[in-house]
Amino acid sequence: MQVAICPGSFDPITVGHLDVIERAAKLYDKVVIGVAQDANKKPLFSLEDRVKFISNSVSKLENVEVEAFDSLLVQFARKHKARTIIKGLRAVSDFELEFQMAQVNHYLDISIETVFMMASPKYAYLSSSAVKEIASYGGSVEGLVTTEVEIALKEFFKKK
Ligand code: PNS
Repeated sequence: MQVAICPGSFDPITVGHLDVIERAAKLYDKVVIGVAQDANKKPLFSLEDRVKFISNSVSKLENVEVEAFDSLLVQFARKHKARTIIKGLRAVSDFELEFQMAQVNHYLDISIETVFMMASPKYAYLSSSAVKEIASYGGSVEGLVTTEVEIALKEFFKKK
């Protein structure tokens, strides 16, 4: 049983994340999406909402599970008997931080490999931060996130 972890803060999940998750689900027997609490980053959406948005987006993928975590990523991977961490890479600008995180995880647990999946070119520009910025100015995020997330973003910025 080959298990892979797709970790992130997913604040919120975008179609770019979903593309990587769907492609990973074709390569591994099981994919566990690890949603980081990430208290340091002050997420816009609560952990519960972020998990709910992802669960509703991947409900048709039978070998994909979603779980929140508040630990080291390697501890979460070990808990699920996963030997692979999958991270999406969009541009060279992602590389430095991702490379550093992969090195730290390698230092923490040499038996767990980080595998980078190149973002599909059509999503190479897409990030949760861009989506939030567009929505904050009343721009349309249709097609960049699921309808549920689109509505939640509209609600959030309407209240502000
Ligand atoms: O969505 P992001 O910001 O790319 O996700 C980053 C994440 C959640 C994968 C990273 O912050 C993480 O692994 N957090 C768990 C804490 C940890 O294991 N830190 C050591 C590796 S740098």
